[in-house]
Amino acid sequence: MKHAFLWLAMISMSILACNDQATPETKEKEAPMKTFDEKTFQEKLNYTDHHSYARIEEAVVTHLSWNAEVDFDQKIIKATATYKINNKKGVDTIYLDSRNLNIMEVRRDDHEGALGYMTHDRSNFLGTELAIPISLATQTISIDYSTTEGAAALQFLEPVQTAGKKHPFLFTQSQAILARTWIPCQDSPGIRFTYDATVKVPKGMMALMSASNPTAISEDGLYNFEMDQAVPSYLMALAVGNISYQSLGNETGVYAEPELIEASAYEFADMQNMVDTAESLYGPYRWGKYDVIVLPPSFPFGGMENPRLTFATPTIIAGDRSLTALIAHELAHSWSGNLVTNAAWEDIWLNEGFTVYFENRIMEEIFGADFANMLAILSYQDLNDEIARLTEEGKAADTRLRLELKDRDPDEGLTAIPYDKGFYLLKLIEETVGREKWDEFLKSYFDKFAFQIMTTDAFVYYLTTQLINQNEAWGDQIRLEEWVHGEGLPDNCPKVNSTRFAQVEDQLSAWQNGAEPTTLASDEWMTPEWLHFLRNLPDEMGEEQMKALDKGFGFTNSGNSEIVSAWFEKVIPNNYQAAEKATEKFLFEVGRRKFLVPIYKAVLKSEKGKERARSIYEKARPNYHAVSSETLDKMLLD
Ligand code: BES
Ligand code: ZN
Repeated sequence: MKHAFLWLAMISMSILACNDQATPETKEKEAPMKTFDEKTFQEKLNYTDHHSYARIEEAVVTHLSWNAEVDFDQKIIKATATYKINNKKGVDTIYLDSRNLNIMEVRRDDHEGALGYMTHDRSNFLGTELAIPISLATQTISIDYSTTEGAAALQFLEPVQTAGKKHPFLFTQSQAILARTWIPCQDSPGIRFTYDATVKVPKGMMALMSASNPTAISEDGLYNFEMDQAVPSYLMALAVGNISYQSLGNETGVYAEPELIEASAYEFADMQNMVDTAESLYGPYRWGKYDVIVLPPSFPFGGMENPRLTFATPTIIAGDRSLTALIAHELAHSWSGNLVTNAAWEDIWLNEGFTVYFENRIMEEIFGADFANMLAILSYQDLNDEIARLTEEGKAADTRLRLELKDRDPDEGLTAIPYDKGFYLLKLIEETVGREKWDEFLKSYFDKFAFQIMTTDAFVYYLTTQLINQNEAWGDQIRLEEWVHGEGLPDNCPKVNSTRFAQVEDQLSAWQNGAEPTTLASDEWMTPEWLHFLRNLPDEMGEEQMKALDKGFGFTNSGNSEIVSAWFEKVIPNNYQAAEKATEKFLFEVGRRKFLVPIYKAVLKSEKGKERARSIYEKARPNYHAVSSETLDKMLLD
């Protein structure tokens, strides 16, 4: 109440002042943001990236020419990277990030022979600072280097780890700060550059990047790439393998190993429709083609929004198109993230929260509001579980949308908070201002800030002055500051209802009251309904109960990775014998961290607990990408 009075008083003061410039008095009390002021906005766009050595105001890379050869025998990439630079301040040094790279020689165009350069090694996730001397005349610098075994972005797979079992495979994962482990670069989301590349791979293999791509295997193993739109380093990507292509529409297509191409094309049949829908919501898709590559199962994420070519886990190939929200999500990043980019990893909710929101809107358009509502409720459950977990672990500060990640690996910020709390804030804004106004705002936001960065502060200011201030009540209804800088979930979080979930709950009660699994009305259920059912099973179940469920619904051997892992989470702590083999097989084959962490946790909770979890991990670890093994090492190898 006191707060509201103060606010009113300040408003009337600025009205009295008869202009928009705050009087010195009101400034001291932090005048409410009233109308948009460009200078204030620019100030709020200032930020420090704690995760890069690059000095963005001094000298930046504007274009990269990457000439590389992939050596599957040694499991390294040898390359020459040539950078066009913009020496903004006429400085004598440009700073790049690198980590575990073997630097052979550094040159520049205005200097004969090899250059001396300095390195500063933090020996942690930040890696090594490369300080390269430049002059006012320097236009380009070049670095000859090779990657090493410790290149965390790279995973070289043996043939047995692929679907075809005959050819090796390589893929990269650069986000958040792993690009520096395979290319020396200014590894900061706020620095964008265009790139071209020439990549040599063994004959018979295809190479693909986040750029213009081939659709057939070349005879000589040589591939050329162009990326004419400036992108930050975390969107640099490479995949090499025995890969084939199938078109899915005008601007869309899918890449996969030949063994998986048909199933992939079937699963993603809605892709062109998704692109059209996304465009109708928030403006043109600006990247030319939109393709997806289905990677081998060790890919540590569900998907990664590499421009023009989303990288995806094969665990979404369920056979019934029921897990394609993930494609909607990665596609949505073509606006939120790839066009308007979080300035630093502390602002990651601007990438991920917006994307979950956009994903939900695409799903609503294509599969209907009742489907989108189920996804929203699952997201609400994830959010509450995450807040409970973080709070319990003494990390309540990480439940804020704007994170503090100084001296921390940005991977620590990768919780459900930026995703699901971000989503619910945007949903709240939508419900408060009305969909029409909100969509209009978002569309112009993506347009106005395309190919630029955004900080949380600048966004809050922009949103407040451009939209929220249009109606006096909206600010109090939304409580933006509390959402962005406060811990936990504000009590004005939108509530979502789902009749389809209500029906699942009815069936759950029927089962708990003794109904046989096969008599439940579950014929029409899709993945979200099954997940709701599984998540709400009692924590403690007896062998007979689990057996009957399994017999009725085939959970243990389900081809749907989401369903299998939700089932494992429930039955492993109850020592369900019949799932033991399948659990081990899953943990051995699948490297997606989102599944691995809860399943290993479940194993840890079971009777044989630690011993069993460790022995499975010992066998499976060589199959995992560094992103997953680094997380699991902390859990399992103390
Ligand atoms: N960009 C993320 C993955 C990411 C974020 C990698 C931060 C490294 C650092 C990607 O778009 C993502 O969110 N993937 C999710 C998909 C899901 C939310 C539909 C995943 O992998 O589970
Ligand atoms: Zn995402």
